[in-house]
Formats: sequence, C-alpha cells, structure tokens
Amino acid sequence: MGLLGYAVLAILSVPMVLAAVGNFQAQASVRGPTSGIKLLNDGLCASFVTNQGYKCDEHEVTTKDGFTLSLQRIPEGRKNVSNGGAKRPPVLIQHGVMVGGMSWVLNPPDENLPMSLADSGYDVWIANARGTIYSQRHKFLRPAEPAFWDWTFDDMVINDVPAMFDYVYNQTGQKIHYVGHSLGTLVALLSLAERNEVVLNRMKSAALLCPIAYLSHITTEIANIAAKTFIAEMTAMSGTSEFDPNRISVVSAIKAICDTHRIKCDDLMTAISGSNCCLNSTVVNVFLAHLQPTATKNLIHLSQVIRFGEVTKFNYEMPDLNIKNYGSLFPPRYDLTKIPSDIPLFLSYGGKDALSDITDVLMLLDILKSHDLDKFSVQFIKDYAHADYVIGYNAKEVVYDYVIAFFRKHQ
Ligand SMILES: *[C@@H]1O[C@H](CO)[C@@H](O)[C@H](O)[C@H]1NC(C)=O
Ligand SMILES: *[C@@H]1O[C@H](CO)[C@@H](O)[C@H](O)[C@H]1NC(C)=O
Ligand SMILES: *[C@@H]1O[C@H](CO)[C@@H](O)[C@H](O)[C@H]1NC(C)=O
Repeated sequence: MGLLGYAVLAILSVPMVLAAVGNFQAQASVRGPTSGIKLLNDGLCASFVTNQGYKCDEHEVTTKDGFTLSLQRIPEGRKNVSNGGAKRPPVLIQHGVMVGGMSWVLNPPDENLPMSLADSGYDVWIANARGTIYSQRHKFLRPAEPAFWDWTFDDMVINDVPAMFDYVYNQTGQKIHYVGHSLGTLVALLSLAERNEVVLNRMKSAALLCPIAYLSHITTEIANIAAKTFIAEMTAMSGTSEFDPNRISVVSAIKAICDTHRIKCDDLMTAISGSNCCLNSTVVNVFLAHLQPTATKNLIHLSQVIRFGEVTKFNYEMPDLNIKNYGSLFPPRYDLTKIPSDIPLFLSYGGKDALSDITDVLMLLDILKSHDLDKFSVQFIKDYAHADYVIGYNAKEVVYDYVIAFFRKHQ
C-alpha cells in the first residue's frame, strides 16, 4: 500500500462526508502543491534521471492481459566503476500504490535508492505499476474505458510481476534481486506464495521495505475510517473505476474528512503514513504533487485485507459473483506458508509506520519463522515510518546500505 491509498479510500466513502466536502466537484481541477513538477511527457528517464548524470533507457513490457508497463533502466553508476569485467547484477524496484517509479528518484543521487544501487555496481530497473502515468497503455483498452481499470493486485501477481521478471531476465541473462515497498512487497510475497514458476526461476533475492501481508492493525485513522466503511464498494458499483488524485484536489478532500472526523491533519504526510522522522518538506511537496492513479477495485481489495484480516483473492462480496469467479462462496486465500524457505529475504520495518504496523509485520514474521536462517535478514528501525523508506534523507545509510550488503551476500 502506498502512502495515500487509504486516504483515498476515505475519499471514496463519499456519502458519509459529502456534506463536508460540499465543494468537492468545484475543486475538481485544483491540483496539489506544484513546486518542482517537471514536464512528465518526456518520460521518467529524461525528467528525473539523465539530468543527474546517469545513463537511463526507457523499456516496456506487455503483460499477458494486454497492459504495457514501462521500465527505466539505469545500467551503471555515475562513476562507471569497473566491475572487474563481471556483469552488473540486475535489481528490479517496485513502488507501492498511489505513487509511481518516480517516487524513488526525488532525493539527490547520493540519497535515493536507484542511484545508490547503480553507484554500487548494480544494473537498476525501475518498475511502474499498471495505471500509473507511464504505464497507461493497453492492447485494445483505453484509460477512459472502465474495463481498463477492472483489476486489483491479484492481476499484478498473475501478470505484471512475472512479465517484468521475464523481461529483465531476457535482457540481462541473470537472476534478479528485487526491492519492493509496501504494495510492492505484497505482490512479491504473493507471487512466491503462488509458486509462480517465472518468478521462482528468475528471482535471486528480495528486499521488502514496509512489508504488507496483514493490515488489521493499521493505525492511520483516515485509513481505518475508509476501510471499515463499506461505501467504497458502492462507489465502485456506481462506476467510478479509476481513482486519479491528479484530477481532484486530494489534499483539500482529505482535509475535509479530517475535519469531519476531528482527526489532526495539519501535517498530511503524518496523518496518512505515520510520523516520519526524516523527510525534507520540499521533497514531500514534490512527492504529493506526483501521486498516481490506480484502480478503485484495487483500493477496495486492499480495504478487504484490512477488514477481513487475511489476504484472499478479490472478494466480490456477493455469493453469486464469487461462485462465478472462483467456484466457491468465498474467494481463495493466499497461503503465505508456501513461500519457498530458501529464497533470500530481507525485511525492514519501522516503529512509527502507521500503515505497515509492527503487529501486522510480526504476524508475517511468524509465518516466516521456519525460513532458512542464513537466507533471512530482518531490520527494525525504531524512528522510521512509511515514507522514510522512499524519500528519507538518511535512508541510504539507514536502509539502502543494508539492502546492498544483503544483495552482495546473496550474489
Ligand atoms: C562503462 O564501462 C563498461 C565496461 O566496464 C563499458 O562497456 C561502458 O561503455 C562504460 N560506459 C560509459 C558511459 O563509459
Ligand atoms: C523472454 O524470452 C523467452 C524466450 O525467448 C520468450 O518466450 C519470452 O516471451 C520473453 N519474455 C519477454 C517478457 O520478453
Ligand atoms: C531539501 O531538498 C531541497 C531540494 O532537493 C534542497 O534544496 C534543500 O537543501 C533540502 N533541505 C534540507 C534541509 O536538506
């Protein structure tokens, strides 16, 4: 789950707060903070990477269900340190929901994850989830059609994750290290639990930042209000298939919800993701200005993980539809105990994270308790919350250097 996922769900619980958000429509064209927005049409490489002195190539991969996902490759570091002739090991980096690949490169090169990895000798691939601005193409559907948005993370597990692993493997001829944040951890864990052959054969190791597999203890008030309100489903039924934070004033809408429920939201990032220790306010504004669309159905699926206490396939919450799709009254559960115990895993979680709550992470760690010990590393960072992992100004020393050490150990 990305930073704003649940806040956005809150907005979807419209009837409850409609009175408070009376001028919601009127503000439809207002955007969030605009400082630092760059022209996005040139692509992520041109807008955010090459101007920092890095080589960067645009790639795309088409999924089995017809989506074209963009990937950006940073093949080497600024200094092009010799690798003794050895090929640079590939790393695939997957962001969470409501943000895009660009969220990783908002900090300066010596602070952000992709460039730190490139400077450490890795061949870096930045993923962009379906529905985000650089991955809004489909073989025959257009984003204006509701069918374009008829998917959840189930579909990312079946289609997107294997397609990206296959593509990067074909391009590099090497097994791939993975870094996921938030929803990016969930899709990797579920691909492993499903024993997806492509992923199993092509993943070298995985670093999971703010791991998400259980969400029942989420402490963000906004998120809870949203998820526990079933209205989101009704919104979907009435046909709102895409949620695009750029088209509405997400900031003022969230503030209206905060007022209605007397939640303290002076600091939006804190209200949404927990008390981050180490953010630069300029970068936060750029981050909030670059929030990305996702499918409403995907947000509803995430709200089910909060409400039902376990990860299942999407629950249609109507018996006949579940029977039609799954042949049973209830959707199948993902069995996390099936995650192969010999895949090297690095988990890092923060003591202040309101989305990836400690209690929920401990439940995941309990599931993984029989994982091979020499292939399992866990890091706990007392002061870190959800966004520190992506744009924390000290994340390189606090987290990324440990991720790099872990990848070296499992090369
Ligand atoms: C970086 O080094 C590799 C070989 O180590 C070479 O193939 C590549 O062209 C170099 N790139 C630049 C930009 O100098
Ligand atoms: C990777 O290569 C295999 C074998 O050539 C091919 O079947 C597959 O379609 C390729 N995958 C991608 C995503 O390009
Ligand atoms: C915050 O980030 C901006 C933009 O990168 C930079 O100019 C500024 O110096 C940073 N502030 C601090 C306190 O690090």
